[in-house]
Amino acid sequence: MKKLVFAGITALVTVLTLGSFVLAQEVQMMRSTPIDADNRLGADFKWEGKEGRMQRNYRQQPPLVPHSIAQYQIDTRVNQCLGCHDWTKAGARGAPTLSMTHYLDREGNELDHIAGTRFFCNQCHVPQADVSPLVPNVFEASSPIEN
Ligand code: HEC
Ligand code: HEC
Repeated sequence: MKKLVFAGITALVTVLTLGSFVLAQEVQMMRSTPIDADNRLGADFKWEGKEGRMQRNYRQQPPLVPHSIAQYQIDTRVNQCLGCHDWTKAGARGAPTLSMTHYLDREGNELDHIAGTRFFCNQCHVPQADVSPLVPNVFEASSPIEN
């Protein structure tokens, strides 16, 4: 009996060790720099697409960013996107104003400043670049759209 328990524990430890090794490998493949180092976008991600706002692929889609974002810093102290898109600046900058959803806290209260849940813009909004995708994408819009 003792032997069986020991064999079981050994097998479990082996599986867990191998499992975490595989996970660690995958995480490393997704990011080329250490997690605490600055990971700036490469020159490939410079926006070279068409000008103007882009058609959404489904109703709830966060609009794609139609300009380069490589120069705009976002960290816990600074958010340079707000310098053009916040309601206090957008008119003067000729940029689309953040919609009201960006000024609602989790309880639904209206705020005068960006909600914490919307601070890190590129969690949801991404620019486009002409590079080969990391994973294949077979997404199709739920209803037909006119391009
Ligand atoms: C220098 C001013 C400026 C800054 C800084 C800026 N933007 Fe913009 N952004 C614009 C302008 C102007 C447009 C509209 C482009 C057009 O209509 O051709 C725009 C468009 C957009 C749109 C498209 C909106 C829509 O409805 O299609 C998104 C999304 C966006 N920006 C996100 C961002 C994010 C995220 C950042 C920061 C990483 C950022 N912007 C920084 C000026 C700016
Ligand atoms: C949690 C996801 C999320 C985050 C974070 C977020 N947005 Fe959005 N954004 C959306 C969605 C979804 C829409 C479209 C629906 C809406 O307006 O709520 C949108 C709409 C917009 C629009 C178009 C507004 C309009 O009326 O056409 C702009 C511009 C924009 N976002 C910029 C930003 C900027 C700049 C930030 C960072 C300060 C940001 N967003 C953060 C999800 C997000």
